[in-house]
Amino acid sequence: MLYKQLQEGKMLRSKLILNIINHELAYLLCAIIELIQSASLLHDDVIDESELRRGKPSLNAEFGNKNAIMLGDILYSRAFYELSKFHPLIAQNLSLSVSKLSIGELEDVFLEQKFNTNENEYLQMIEHKSADLIATSAQCAFLLKDCIRLDSKNPHNAQLDSATCNKAAIYYEYGLYLGMAFQIIDDILDITQDTQTLGKPTMRDFSGGKTTLPYIYLYHELQRDEQIWLQSLFKKDITHADKAKLHSLLLEKSLDKTKQKAQDYAKIAKQHAITLNNPKLESLIDSMIQRDF
Ligand code: FPP
Ligand code: MG
Repeated sequence: MLYKQLQEGKMLRSKLILNIINHELAYLLCAIIELIQSASLLHDDVIDESELRRGKPSLNAEFGNKNAIMLGDILYSRAFYELSKFHPLIAQNLSLSVSKLSIGELEDVFLEQKFNTNENEYLQMIEHKSADLIATSAQCAFLLKDCIRLDSKNPHNAQLDSATCNKAAIYYEYGLYLGMAFQIIDDILDITQDTQTLGKPTMRDFSGGKTTLPYIYLYHELQRDEQIWLQSLFKKDITHADKAKLHSLLLEKSLDKTKQKAQDYAKIAKQHAITLNNPKLESLIDSMIQRDF
């Protein structure tokens, strides 16, 4: 009953996997990663005290924190039960990625304690919280493809060599840069899109205590008195006038630089897609950059 309340997301990780391998086992890998993703969002909505997810009341808002956490645990443990059927290297990589995801969430909670002005700390946090699972999805998709090529009857026992691992590392790098661009585009959309398109309130990141990249760049563009004004809004009930001023300052002074940063990551991801000779991975970058939700 609770499970039916979950809303379908963008499925970026599944699209990525299916652009690398088309096999029935790939669908199981997609299901595992979507279960992990859903579990992490259930827990994240409890941590962030979010009331909306994908346009509907979040599960914690409707059924309470306890039910949201336990449903997350059920999804997560089922994902690991299914993952144990895959090659040990796939299972190990994905398990490590979930640890990074959890470390990233801890770093996010830590950064939310104050108005963070440090770009590198922010980039490291989103690498752990967001980009690593996207990178690992690409890496594991390729490992699975090679396991099937080497031993189609028993892919979980395939003997993988260093050439496979080296190529898998390029898929990982591709996914990492794609993931960084993806998260930064998310940060921009939080500011530029309306509540209906986003499925959550506009500028919810900042009001929830997240000083994302556009806010960090804006801070460094402002004179000292305006920096103090910006910091004074952190985690406060922001007035309509302050919100309007903040919105126009972001548009004027920081969104172009933020977009450029996302494009820089996307460009590196594209170079990896070219090395991998996979045009589908190239167009996935374009659709991800141009999306509006
Ligand atoms: C969304 O961030 C949150 C994540 C991408 C990761 C959350 C990870 C955890 C809670 C650890 C999960 C651990 C297990 C074991 C499953 P956000 O709040 O910036 O994005 P949002 O606006 O979509 O909420
Ligand atoms: Mg959240």
